[in-house]
Amino acid sequence: MSEAGWIAVDDYIVGHLLEPDAALDAALAANAAGGLPAIDVSAAQGKMLHLFARMAGARHILEVGTLGGYSTIWLARALPEGGRLVTLELELNHAEVARANIAAAGLADRVDVRTGPAIETLDAMIAAGEGPFDLIFIDADKPSNVAYLRAAIALGRPGTVIVVDNVVRDGGVVDATSTDPSIQGTRALFEAIAAEPRLSATAVQTVGAKTWDGFLLAVLGAAA
Ligand SMILES: C[S@@+](CC[C@H](N)C(=O)[O-])C[C@H]1O[C@@H](n2cnc3c(N)ncnc32)[C@H](O)[C@@H]1O
Repeated sequence: MSEAGWIAVDDYIVGHLLEPDAALDAALAANAAGGLPAIDVSAAQGKMLHLFARMAGARHILEVGTLGGYSTIWLARALPEGGRLVTLELELNHAEVARANIAAAGLADRVDVRTGPAIETLDAMIAAGEGPFDLIFIDADKPSNVAYLRAAIALGRPGTVIVVDNVVRDGGVVDATSTDPSIQGTRALFEAIAAEPRLSATAVQTVGAKTWDGFLLAVLGAAA
């Protein structure tokens, strides 16, 4: 099937299983108006993240890579009363657009957008004893994925769900000779997880509006 076919199937999924959503549509429009790249998760993927958070009963969510807050909104909507989401973003203009989108979606009271290089923010969070987080979504610069994984383990607890986006990269993940830092970072992530006995993990390939890619899914702690 062609890329047009993948998009048609994505449209079919969204048309049948997702409600029209003015807040999310407005967020994407604001991102475009603000010059942000359209590298958010797709609508179907956003709903998947939302369902993961509900399945995990997540009260505390951490996101690494906010962009304009599209995935943040999907995740924050899964929080129960009193739940909190912390999302980390390097670019000040991305964070500014995200804060406005999150406020317009009525979620400002439960979402904390923190700016700066995520590795530094995560180190500060670990030093401050923050956490544990119930679900951690990693979706920022791919060369730092191993550092984000280590921080996620430090900020998690047994049962924490860790989700990493863009781990297939048009199949590039299997190219051991690639000099692309994002592919090298993704391969290093797989190797780190394979060597990490505290994680049980898999990855699932996806096609659709965001081409050929995939999500890595992990749970911290041995199965009961
Ligand atoms: C793929 S986008 C995030 C998309 C978002 N999760 C969504 O689906 O709506 C990646 C984001 O990570 C941010 N980023 C890149 N390097 C970063 C770093 N070192 N620290 C924090 N954020 C970073 C980028 O500025 C960009 O906004």
